[in-house]
Amino acid sequence: MERLDKFLADRGAGTRSQVKLLVKSGAVTVDGKVERNSGRKVDPATQRICLHGEPLAADSRLVVMLNKPAGFVTATEDKEEKTVMELLPPEYRNRDLKPIGRLDKATEGLLLFTNDGDLLHRLISPKKEVPKVYYARHEGTATGEDVQAFADGLTLRDGTVCLSARLEPLGPGESLITVCEGKYHQVRRMMASRGMPVTYLERKSEGSLILGDLPRGETRQLTEEEVARLEMQE
Ligand code: URA
Repeated sequence: MERLDKFLADRGAGTRSQVKLLVKSGAVTVDGKVERNSGRKVDPATQRICLHGEPLAADSRLVVMLNKPAGFVTATEDKEEKTVMELLPPEYRNRDLKPIGRLDKATEGLLLFTNDGDLLHRLISPKKEVPKVYYARHEGTATGEDVQAFADGLTLRDGTVCLSARLEPLGPGESLITVCEGKYHQVRRMMASRGMPVTYLERKSEGSLILGDLPRGETRQLTEEEVARLEMQE
């Protein structure tokens, strides 16, 4: 059981004081009856709570996709840098979302968040080998030899050995890179090890999830079907 005003505020209906006014105005029903007492305890799992006639979900699992812009670090807090948490719209704040994996500050594109700790840990486990596709602009032009070296498993400049990866040259200074692991600055280091430093990097997809036309800086909730596919790829 939790307070009605907290439940509403956590779902982005407004601040606690705005929510109180909403409830007073008769905009909220609990099991079909207008409820004007915002301090009332409710059980969202069993009661139907509606705002302006629209049902609000119980605190179910939330999985959100962000098209990350450059300039934000993947962290829940940071003393100096702007974090990806600042990009979440109000309805996703206070929902205990955490990033799944990470993108570098300069990297853009697909970044997932969830409030389901179990799902989070299963998905970031190093045992997982979900293919992630990156679009890179870089110096130089990838050759057949580079493609083969990626396929064979690169050894980075510090001796780190990478799993087999796919390099698809798209044209001069542009490639798609598919990796199944997430070592620190992996794509940038792989490309640098072949003499092609990356100047721009964007994650396009992760397993079956595709960034598609989600605008930069925007978020969207995954569909039930997408979440089911995410679980299948565990
Ligand atoms: N590889 C990188 O180098 N950076 C990222 O952000 C992701 C993969």
